[in-house]
Amino acid sequence: MKIVRTVKDLRAQVALWRAQHHSISLIPTMGALHEGHLSLVAVGKKAAHKAVATLFVNPTQFGEGEDLATYPRDEDRDARMLAGAGCDLLFIPSVEEMYPSDFSTEVRVKGLTDCLCGAARPGHMDGVAQVVSKLLNQAGANYAVFGEKDWQQLAVIRRMARDLNIPTDILGGPTQRETDGLAMSSRNRYLNPDQRRIAGGLNRELFAAAARIAGGAPVDAECIVTAKILEKSGFDSVDYVEARDPETLQPVTVHDPARPGRLFAAAHLGKARLIDNVTIAPLS
Ligand code: PAJ
Repeated sequence: MKIVRTVKDLRAQVALWRAQHHSISLIPTMGALHEGHLSLVAVGKKAAHKAVATLFVNPTQFGEGEDLATYPRDEDRDARMLAGAGCDLLFIPSVEEMYPSDFSTEVRVKGLTDCLCGAARPGHMDGVAQVVSKLLNQAGANYAVFGEKDWQQLAVIRRMARDLNIPTDILGGPTQRETDGLAMSSRNRYLNPDQRRIAGGLNRELFAAAARIAGGAPVDAECIVTAKILEKSGFDSVDYVEARDPETLQPVTVHDPARPGRLFAAAHLGKARLIDNVTIAPLS
């Protein structure tokens, strides 16, 4: 696997592949990789001949007091994991390469970004839209793959790519989970053993509430009850438990089996802020 650090070198490699009639998938990451990230490489490899991963801890999507300075970084380990997963190229730009000192352009996807994590983390989704629009333009890939674990992020990126006519198809990859259901996340390493045990409850309670709603229980009451259960089980605080449309992210107040909503939750546990989402469906 080749590593490049400039947009010029990225484009040169992509142009070479294009000349050989190879299609390309892009897999953006912030590193600290786990099986969830690698599963996206597999999705990308299935869709296209070549997989290009990016590793960039994007400062513009971190708010004040968040973990930008302490975000886990291990470039060599990440590169080894990506090479092992069959990735063909890794793009690791510097902050200066991405944001020259007079960088002036903002990207805001209205409507989809002021709820859920967008409400709890002001500016976060704008930073994501900004960096992803750049990465998509830099790579010029046929496909770009994002995880369903960050469903709102995926919805924002889909809308942005459509609105701006970015000629890259946005693909979603299913959430990879630990055996107790906890969604894999680079931030799970912030959990101590006690917190790690509590963390599995987030997914369990979401699935249980989704099944009750699918069975006819009222949406709002289930969201309130689930937040209370999570707080009682040991989470420090719950940012939200909400049912929303999978595409528009508008609130869902009544379950419609013909267009099932999703249940979204975010909760704090020690130094970690955990998020998850599941479709509203009976337990399988
Ligand atoms: P990061 O948190 O590193 O995640 C990179 C990609 O991996 C995202 O598309 C995310 O949704 C996906 N992912 C994370 N955990 C996953 C899991 N358990 N199962 C499946 N996919 C998972 O998300 C970002 O970085 C950034 O916001 C980024 C899009 C790179 C822009 O900076």
